[in-house]
Amino acid sequence: MADNIKVVAEIRRQNPDADNIARYERYEVTGMPTMRVLDVIRSIYENQADDLGFQFACRIGRCGTCAVRVNGVPVLACQEIAKLHMRIEPLSPFPVLRDLVIDRSEIEQKYEDLQLAPRRHVEHGGKPESMDPKLAEELCHIDRCIGCMICVSACPAVDERSFDGPAFMLSLQHMNMHPHDTANRLVQAIDGGMMECFGCDICTQVCPTDLSPAQAIRDMRADLLFSRRKAKG
Ligand code: SF4
Ligand code: SF4
Ligand code: FES
Repeated sequence: MADNIKVVAEIRRQNPDADNIARYERYEVTGMPTMRVLDVIRSIYENQADDLGFQFACRIGRCGTCAVRVNGVPVLACQEIAKLHMRIEPLSPFPVLRDLVIDRSEIEQKYEDLQLAPRRHVEHGGKPESMDPKLAEELCHIDRCIGCMICVSACPAVDERSFDGPAFMLSLQHMNMHPHDTANRLVQAIDGGMMECFGCDICTQVCPTDLSPAQAIRDMRADLLFSRRKAKG
C-alpha cells in the first residue's frame, strides 16, 4: 500500500452575513495519495472545522454540486485528486452563501427562463415518436451536462463581457437540435451573449463530462450564418 501523504489546504472562509472580508485558513490533512479534494474538505470538517460550509451529494461526478476552484482551476471536488498544496475557493463568479457554498438561485432561474423542454406547435400525441438514431445519440450525449457551472467559471468571456456562459449555450443547442422543438433557440443564444464567445475552447477542456460547449456555440453560429435552422414540428 502506498504511503500516506500530507496535504496543505488553504480554504477561503467567509460568512457574508458576519464577515466583511474573506480570509484563508490553513489546514493539514494526512491521507492516501488517491484521496480526492472532497475527502480533504470532509476530513477538515469532521476533525478541524465543524463550521466549514461546503456541499456535495452524489460523490460520483453526477450531481455537480461539489464544484470548487482549486489553485484557480474549477473542478469537481469529488473527482479531483488532492494536490499537496491547494488553495480551495468557491466557484466564481457566483455569489457565496458561506465558505465554499455558492448561491445557485440565479443559475436555476436562468435555466427555468430558457424553457429547455421541447416547445411544440402540435401537442405530444402520447405515443413514442421516431427519431434518427444518430441524432438521438447526439441529444443523449449533450443531455449528460450536470449543470456544474465549471465551464462558466473557467470561461474568460463571462468575466469580461455580457455573456451567460457556455453551459447555457450548450443547453440551447440541445433544444436547437431537437426535431420537436419549435422555439427559436438561436435568438435566445444571441440574447444570452453567444456572439461574445471568442472560441478559446477552455470550457471544453475543463468539462468533467467530456462535453464541448465551444463546439455547440460553433454549430449554432454556423446555423445562423447558413440559415440552416429548418421548420420543425
Ligand atoms: S470557447 Fe467561448 S464559451 Fe468556451 S470558454 Fe472560450 S470564450 Fe468561453
Ligand atoms: S457543459 Fe460540462 S462543465 Fe459545463 S455545466 Fe455542463 S457538465 Fe458542467
Ligand atoms: S458530489 Fe456530485 S458531482 Fe461531486
